[in-house]
Amino acid sequence: MAIQGEKNQIAVEFQNFKKRFGTKLVHRDVSFQVRKGECLGLLGGSGAGKSVILRSLIGLEKPDEGQILVDGEDITKMGERDLIEIRKKVAYVFQNGALFDSMSVYENLAYPLRAHTKLNEREIADRVHEQLDEFGLAGNEKIFPANLSGGMQKRVGLARSIILQPKIVLYDEPTAGLDPYNTIRIQEMILRLKSKGVTAIFVTHDMPSVFAVCDRIALLLEGKVSAIGTREELERAPEGKLGRFVTGQEL
Ligand SMILES: Nc1ncnc2c1ncn2[C@@H]1O[C@H](COP(=O)(O)OP(=O)(O)OP(=O)(O)O)[C@@H](O)[C@H]1O
Ligand SMILES: [Mg+2]
Repeated sequence: MAIQGEKNQIAVEFQNFKKRFGTKLVHRDVSFQVRKGECLGLLGGSGAGKSVILRSLIGLEKPDEGQILVDGEDITKMGERDLIEIRKKVAYVFQNGALFDSMSVYENLAYPLRAHTKLNEREIADRVHEQLDEFGLAGNEKIFPANLSGGMQKRVGLARSIILQPKIVLYDEPTAGLDPYNTIRIQEMILRLKSKGVTAIFVTHDMPSVFAVCDRIALLLEGKVSAIGTREELERAPEGKLGRFVTGQEL
């Protein structure tokens, strides 16, 4: 029973994930778990395969070998219909916000609600305004993405990605290129979701944000998770991989 209880605490699990593109073996053997409600920071050099891990989690890439469990269900064998359900549960926050240029901020946020829920227009309006309010974006409803700053685009992108109230959120470099003000706003948005029990994987090179929002950190190196643990555990580890990675030394 104890083992069963423990399993139920795992939101995401990669088991011996292997992925190659042509002759390039990107992931040799990646295994890690993300606990429910946890925010796991996923670090690794450019090209280490962090985005491929996130894309695989919503079925946009298929592994060559291995399993990916979401709430205990292997998604690697699922067809498109089941993957659509997974994508409601697992939100992917794209780096550039991925807003629709021809739609206002309001329409951008309303879009997923129209596509995936049975809410009527009044309920949609309430939900959109509530979301904008909660994330400090009220008053921007009529603006088009091209007229928003990069930081605002990312914040609106995040607000839209999570409007269906996913249980798991995948952040792909959400603070890249942002000024300190917008970086801190994004950190606050992530922490707010965390306080509601949302599980997250946070891919980034932004160490202050990792330390601000993540419970544990995983380091991807040469196709494997070479270290995983809390900041303190990794800093204490004899091989000191986290410190070496952060300070730009060879691992
Ligand atoms: N669809 C694809 N076809 C071919 N190669 C790909 C494809 N997707 C990813 N790759 C390769 O896989 C490797 C890992 O890519 P990925 O985008 O996951 O890296 P990353 O860790 O996210 O890097 P960055 O920090 O620069 O975003 C790269 O060498 C990339 O060129
Ligand atoms: Mg990437």
